[in-house]
Amino acid sequence: MTTKLFRGAHIYTPMKEDRPASGAAQGNLLEWKDGGFLVENGRISLIGERRDVERQAGKNGNKTVDAEVDLGGAVVVPGFVDPHTHACVAALREGEFSMRLAGKPYLEILKAGGGILSSVRSVRAASEDELFRFSAKLLETTLRYGTTTVEIKSGYGLDRENELKMLSVIARLGREGAGRGVVQTVVPTFMGAHAVPEEYRTKPDSYVVMLRDEMLPAVAKQGIAKFCDVFCEDGVFSVAQSRRILQKAAELGMRLKIHADEVHDLGGAALAGELRTASAEHLLAASDEGIDAMAKGGVVAVLLPATAYSLKKPFARARSMIERNVPVALATDLNPGSCFCQSMPFVASLAMMGMNMTPGETLTGITLNAAWAVGLEEEVGSLEPGKLADFVVLDGETPAILAYASGICPIRSVWKRGERV
Ligand code: NIG
Ligand code: FE
Repeated sequence: MTTKLFRGAHIYTPMKEDRPASGAAQGNLLEWKDGGFLVENGRISLIGERRDVERQAGKNGNKTVDAEVDLGGAVVVPGFVDPHTHACVAALREGEFSMRLAGKPYLEILKAGGGILSSVRSVRAASEDELFRFSAKLLETTLRYGTTTVEIKSGYGLDRENELKMLSVIARLGREGAGRGVVQTVVPTFMGAHAVPEEYRTKPDSYVVMLRDEMLPAVAKQGIAKFCDVFCEDGVFSVAQSRRILQKAAELGMRLKIHADEVHDLGGAALAGELRTASAEHLLAASDEGIDAMAKGGVVAVLLPATAYSLKKPFARARSMIERNVPVALATDLNPGSCFCQSMPFVASLAMMGMNMTPGETLTGITLNAAWAVGLEEEVGSLEPGKLADFVVLDGETPAILAYASGICPIRSVWKRGERV
């Protein structure tokens, strides 16, 4: 049992309530200018004004403090939670990015057998060790950029054997992390419905049947995926197919996510509301009706502004979502195709500059609402007693530094379970 007292912390944090923060509440942060917190075995046990924390920590005897850390008055925020990545891969696709720069649309590259299908070929050819090493390197970078919790999707295997292989590598990433003794909290998502694999090109419905009747039960039996996600998009999976897959996943005890209305408004947001999924993600083209359905269903919108940036598309309508009481979370979408972004500070900057979110709304989006989106709201996402002592020390005066300091990473240090990374 080790107990650490942190002093000299200018703390900004959202506070967990009984539901994700939405509407005006999304922008509310608690601030302690001269703050402190006590960490016992990697979890926060006390937090608040330094004087109160020091008094309660029993400078007068209730508790022994093993170590004291003075943060020198720096800004402290919760560790970032990245609730949407495809970070389990075996290769990048920079050549394809150059094709996109030259004007070829993302979905056309997929239709021509590239895109996601090219990552499928490299993942299928890779051993578990190769896949682990390549992905761990990506995660190591995300950790340096403040990500202490990360969701990772499968979806480049697209058959039973290779989807299970990916999920087993994702589980290993959650046990061993980047291999330097610091391990991010990893949330595994099964995304066998990421694309129709080449061998099913002429019979996509048979793929959906196989996914429902063989892959999903196999994944559920191993208990290695917390969520099931579907890419509901023109030319990928229709709303009807997505509904069938997600309903089966729910029956098998998985929680639900959906890639909705990323490029076209198919009605994915409305489906998310209907199925009360934990989150709907992307939403670049979501309609007002879709947004209202999400608000009604209590669905968290996971917005990926770095993807819009990389695809050169207009950003999602974060302001309409916040006005319509949809809780907004933010993620990198880290993947080799549509968005090779490992930086939550960059995402936060785009949220403030491109989607007009306030610094408070943005901080809640990269921490507490993101924790809700991955079902870890009791563990991470805010600095409160009982939660993991995951935090980021910023090089600035307020969370606005994440946008103000453009193009650099304004992070002084990253801490996981009370240990410096
Ligand atoms: O979220 N939209 C689908 N999936 C990813 C892209 C994956 C890839 O291109 O490899 C996304 O953008
Ligand atoms: Fe994605």
